[in-house]
Order: sequence, then structure tokens, then C-alpha cells
Amino acid sequence: MQRLIIKGKKKLKGKIKISGSKNATLPILAASILSNSSEIKNIPLVNDIFTMVKLLKFIGLKCILSKKKKTIKIFNKLTKSNKNIIAPYKLVKTMRAGVLVLGPILNKCGKAKVSLPGGCAIGSRPVDLHLMALKKLGAKIKIKNGYIHATALKGLKGTNIKFPFISVGATENAILAAFGAEGKTILNNCAIEPEIKDLVNYLNKLGGKINIKKRKITIRGVKETRKISYKVMFDRIELGTYLISAGTAGNEISFSNVDKKVINTEIKILKKIGVKVICKKNKITVIGNNKLKKVSIKTGPYPGFPTDLQAQIMVLMTQSEGTSKITETIFENRFMHVPELRRMGANIFIKNNHAYIKGPTKLSGAEVMATDLRASVSLVLAALLAENRTIINRIYHLDRGYQHLEKKLNNCRANIKRIN
Ligand code: UD1
Repeated sequence: MQRLIIKGKKKLKGKIKISGSKNATLPILAASILSNSSEIKNIPLVNDIFTMVKLLKFIGLKCILSKKKKTIKIFNKLTKSNKNIIAPYKLVKTMRAGVLVLGPILNKCGKAKVSLPGGCAIGSRPVDLHLMALKKLGAKIKIKNGYIHATALKGLKGTNIKFPFISVGATENAILAAFGAEGKTILNNCAIEPEIKDLVNYLNKLGGKINIKKRKITIRGVKETRKISYKVMFDRIELGTYLISAGTAGNEISFSNVDKKVINTEIKILKKIGVKVICKKNKITVIGNNKLKKVSIKTGPYPGFPTDLQAQIMVLMTQSEGTSKITETIFENRFMHVPELRRMGANIFIKNNHAYIKGPTKLSGAEVMATDLRASVSLVLAALLAENRTIINRIYHLDRGYQHLEKKLNNCRANIKRIN
């Protein structure tokens, strides 16, 4: 099994090119089931995307992936005559976004059998809201042997749906199902993450009629789609991770071709902590500081502070003066990185869904274990700050979502080696 060996305390200086967004590419790939032919550009070369491509091929789509051009061309001949479409457990269990193929297959074929994804390290993560939305659109749903069996042989019908709470995946699945439904669907209390807007832009380019107004999304069903080419947005979580990595004294990293509007909340928090962030047109430069201040943050749906950057900002808080506080409101079990950070010397106390981080503390290298994607990268950030050498095990989590992480950081003078 591969591991990372990181020698810390190097000053990070340089430029990082941010990849395409994983969390936008995944639903867009699922959406490609609704089209006959589309090309998706700027895809990130990470394992979750490769798994989604495997899933699309398994379902019967032709996918041509060019790693060099970072594009995927998709050709789709699925019709109502394809009645035995299955999204198998082996693919959906490693990449939960696999469940997003449910709405599109149902639209295209009238019948779908998709594995229930199961829980993961950060929480139980049910899909009840996805199923509630599909049922309201007219699908018949049964759960049997760990699979969702859904049918809508006469097609789905537009309706009004109000989500009891905000879910990114359920909003996406509902949009994808409503896209091919008859008539108008209105979704209320939706997630409005930039990745959802990117999915809607893709669908509208295909010929869709989707409108987002605050947390209300209106979808008018369409039957025909156009052949298109679409460029996926940049990965705001990757950008946020590297912005945070440069927060301490002596570091300076620049990023071009990014849009500060989608990362405003994170920039405000970094500035409050004392990190210098300079935004000019589509370029951001972050300059670290040696006097960092405590802050209190609460994760929340966009435009709130993203739960996907909670573990990373916690590492920076270990360097702030005083006690910082994080309240995690999205996932019930998302402090798995804390015991590992403590092994590196962090002073963190957990009570219910609150973490109290006392700083500044000197971190020291240790052998640690990654538990999920964002927890893994937080250990990398801690290792960059730590004295001596850190060994990070189980880095397959990292490879699910960060393209060329060690190359990007080593180009900024970090010292990271991958060994088998
Ligand atoms: C997506 C992101 C993930 C991010 C999360 C929250 C992708 C591929 N993944 O995950 O990186 O951390 O949004 O920003 O885009 N829930 C239910 N029932 C449901 C659906 C969700 O109870 O049917 C709960 C979840 O367990 C969680 C909360 O709602 O507690 C929010 O989850 P959701 O927004 O759906 O996250 P994902 O779409 O799984």
C-alpha cells in the first residue's frame, strides 16, 4: 500500500494550477446519461472520476477518456428498450456519487437498479431524500438486497417538492430526474453549491430549461438534447485546501484562473485569522502570517463554510493564538482526523459536534493514518507544518480527490515522497 513521507517546516513558495472540480464533474458525468453525445472538458484526473467512468461504461455508455487533454467524450444509445440497467455495489460503495445515475437512467430507460451506497467514515449518509424526490416525480421504489429498484415505465411527471433540509446529492438527483419529466418541476429548499450551478449550466447547454432563484429551482422537462462540449468549473475545495496550506509565516502561493466569488466565505475567514489574501481579477495570492488569531466557524451549506474544508482549517487553527472553535453541522462523524492530529501534538478537545482547538502548538512528525478524503489532506497540511518526518498511511483516500497533490506542493518547495 502506498504512503506519503513528508519532511515538514519548508517554506512554500510558488504557483499552483487548480484542477477541474471533482464534485461538479461527478454529477455532470451522471447527467451525460441524459444526452446522446457530449464532451466534458477540464476533468480532474482523480480516482472518483475514473470510478464514475467505469460505472457509465458498465451501464452501456461509450466513454473516451483522454488524460492528456483532460476530456471525456460520451456517446449514449440507451433507450426505453434497455430494461436491465444496473449500477453495482462494487462501484457505488467506493464512490457515493454513483447513486446520481438513478434519476438519469430512470428518465432514459424507465427502470433502474442502483446499489444503496452504504455509510462511510464521516457518517451514515442515507439517500432517503433522493428517493423521496423520485417518488414525488412518480417513480415506484423498492429496496431489496441492498439495491434500489426504481421504475417509471410511463415516464416521470413534473411536480412540486420541498426538501426538509438541504442536501447537495438529493438536489442533484431531483434535477436530473426532473430534466426528462413531463411538465414543470419546482424544487424548494435546494442546495445551491457552485457545483450545482455548474451542473445546471451543463444541462441548459444540452437544451434544458432550468432556473435557479435563491433556494428554488424550476425545471421544465425536455425530450431532445443537443450535442455539446462543456468545460467544468475549477475545484473550489482544492483551491481552499491550498489557500489554507499557505496560511503560516514565510509561505506565498498564487493561483490563476480562479473566481474569488465562489470562495468568498473561506477568504473572509482566512483574513479574520490574519492570513493575507490578495485577489486581482481571476488571480489569488495568499501570504502566510506568523501571528494568527483565533476564530469560531460553523460549517454549513453554500454559501456557508464548507464541511469539506473543516479538517484543513482545523490544522491552521492549531497555529492560532487562543482557543478556536469549529461547529460541524453537516456530518455527524466528521472529526476522525482529530485523534491523528493529536498524535502530532495538536491540542484539540471535542464535545458533541464542536471542536475546540487551542493554539499555538508545535506540531511534530508521526506515523498517521488517513480515514477519508478531506481528513487525509488535513494530515498532509499538518505534516507540512510539523518538525521532522511524517508518514501518512492509506493515502488511497487522497487519490480519490486530489490530482497530483505531491507534484503541486513539491513545485512550491515542499518535500513529499510517495513510496510503496
Ligand atoms: C456532497 C459532496 C461532499 C460534501 C457534501 C456536503 C459530492 C460528490 N459530494 O455530498 O463532498 O461534503 O455534499 O457539502 O458533491 N442526507 C440525508 N438524506 C439524504 C441525503 C443527505 O440525511 O437523502 C444528509 C447527509 O447524511 C448529510 C447531509 O444530509 O448529513 C448533507 O449531505 P449531502 O449534502 O447530501 O452530501 P452529499 O451530496 O452526499
